[in-house]
Amino acid sequence: MMNALIVDPNGRRGLRFGEVAEPTPTAGQALVEVRAISFNWGELSFLHHMHRPGDVPGWDAAGVVVRAAADGSGPAPGTRVTTAGWNGAWAELRAVDAGELAPLPADMDFGAASALPAAGVTALRALRSLGSVVGRRVLVTGASGGVGGFAVQLARRAGAHVVASVSGEGRGETLRKLGAREVVVGLDAVVEPFHGVLDTIGGAVLTRAFQFVAPGGTLVSIGNASLQPSTIDFEQERARGGGRRIEVFTVGGAGYGPDLADLVELVSLGELDPQIGWRGDWRQAADAADALLERRVRGKVVLDLQRDE
Ligand SMILES: NC(=O)c1ccc[n+]([C@@H]2O[C@H](COP(=O)([O-])OP(=O)(O)OC[C@H]3O[C@@H](n4cnc5c(N)ncnc54)[C@H](OP(=O)(O)O)[C@@H]3O)[C@@H](O)[C@H]2O)c1
Repeated sequence: MMNALIVDPNGRRGLRFGEVAEPTPTAGQALVEVRAISFNWGELSFLHHMHRPGDVPGWDAAGVVVRAAADGSGPAPGTRVTTAGWNGAWAELRAVDAGELAPLPADMDFGAASALPAAGVTALRALRSLGSVVGRRVLVTGASGGVGGFAVQLARRAGAHVVASVSGEGRGETLRKLGAREVVVGLDAVVEPFHGVLDTIGGAVLTRAFQFVAPGGTLVSIGNASLQPSTIDFEQERARGGGRRIEVFTVGGAGYGPDLADLVELVSLGELDPQIGWRGDWRQAADAADALLERRVRGKVVLDLQRDE
């Protein structure tokens, strides 16, 4: 048996700490002893849509391989890794496909590594969908969030002029250091158009942001953290001349390994900051979930199962 965060409709934030059976890896899966996990808004907000009571949820976990995949794929026991998947991360042991992990340098903090999979790979793939952004203006909404923080940094690294939009004064203090050329509250101060918009808010923010997409440009709808629908007047858009796209983005279910390896390398070079805004022991999971869902965190939430000295 092992300890885990288990889905329980009667638990705080729908979770309880308890014991479950250890996972049984398939032939292509490594068994990883988890040292740190990160929380994402989506997995907490839609916990009960995605899981049944008793499930062990969780997308992001970093730790040490304790048993290599039986088919010989993937890393050897003792390898430090970060791992991606759609369940099973919030436990002492995780079975993970060899293609859904990336090795870590010896000195990389497991907490930093655990912050990368869902939010980092989402930001990376959403940015890629804009094509080249060298010298082009890119707007990131929800820039104080997990995905938004990675998007700002990766877009800047890719050569964009990044405008970071946040919900209030004080929410974007670190974003200039991370590469934003401008930090704006809402979109009222925006005047010039954008080649690309990476939007995690949806609702009225998406509607407004679409007004600033240049002809030939794209708004990538990554998420809908406002939980509000958006209204677009397409007749008005035709009158504007059209030629603007909205992409309904999904990060995709598999093949995270290579993208994770790229993000790990950037962190190890000091070129990407996982922006850990809340960190604690995993027994404080409900407090962490409160902080994230009540919008008291800037960046990522990380929970340690066991911290290196
Ligand atoms: N398409 C995909 O495959 C995919 C993958 C991963 C995530 N997502 C989505 O991406 C979104 C962000 O995820 P995340 O993990 O980055 O969440 P997060 O860390 O909680 O960040 C959410 C951001 O949204 C802002 N926000 C929330 N409600 C808002 C509102 N009503 N008005 C203005 N700003 C608001 C928050 O700003 P403040 O807290 O500063 O106010 C914060 O910056 C979520 O919708 C998630 O489901 C999609």
